[in-house]
Amino acid sequence: MRKLLSIMAFLCLSATLYVSCKHELPIPISGGGTGGTTPPTSTGGQSCSPDTVYFNNTILPILTSNCAMAGCHDVTSKKEGLILNNYTGIMKIVKPGNAAGSSLVSVIISNDPGKVMPPPPMAKLSTSQIDAIKKWINQGAKNNSCNGCDTASFTYNAVVKVVMTNKCVGCHNAASPGGGIDLSTHAGVKAVALNGKLMGSVNMKAGFVAMPLGGSKLPDCEIKQLQKWVDAGALNN
Ligand code: HEC
Repeated sequence: MRKLLSIMAFLCLSATLYVSCKHELPIPISGGGTGGTTPPTSTGGQSCSPDTVYFNNTILPILTSNCAMAGCHDVTSKKEGLILNNYTGIMKIVKPGNAAGSSLVSVIISNDPGKVMPPPPMAKLSTSQIDAIKKWINQGAKNNSCNGCDTASFTYNAVVKVVMTNKCVGCHNAASPGGGIDLSTHAGVKAVALNGKLMGSVNMKAGFVAMPLGGSKLPDCEIKQLQKWVDAGALNN
């Protein structure tokens, strides 16, 4: 089916707690995910191959934290009708096997401030994040996962920073600090580690706002890694 919905791009303006979005330019979006083809199925549980990009490990966290924040592509705001914190929603802007033809890719690589997503003042996705998204699409855009987490490793640079970058920083950066919290620096993460809010929120405990907001709970292994890092003093190691 050749139906292209003409939709509106939008501009997100950061606010203290929430990012608000304003509509701007039309961008094309492909209809119905995979079109007539069989949707890719989950292959979960396998060990991680360095040659494969996995949806649930890498792609979903990037899009949840950079696109599905309040006021943008979350369940409540669903700008352009897009909810980008789940596979079905994301597949509406992806053509499996064809990164260059996917509107998801055209908006994240755009240099046009009126078209690029996430919109200014939010930062563009990093080159490695963009490359991962392209590779995942060209590998068939499967709903796949792998198990590659090791609780024996829990340093800031190798583990904590990676989890924050992939799953939290999109909503918690200097330009757009959700709840006033910036998780893009060691100092920012350490502050919530030491006041108890980090583990309270990722464990989704009563009395804390569950994090990642609107996303699924972190895997148990990552929660254990964060806990060990906190218990060891939240070092910049
Ligand atoms: C989709 C956007 C979004 C994502 C993704 C997200 N956060 Fe948040 N976070 C927020 C917002 C907005 C608030 C403020 C919520 C409020 O005060 O109601 C917040 C609040 C928090 C708080 C304070 C909680 C409390 O009870 O006071 C912590 C800690 C936190 N986030 C950590 C994280 C961590 C760690 C991650 C990644 C695993 C993460 N967040 C991912 C948007 C997000």
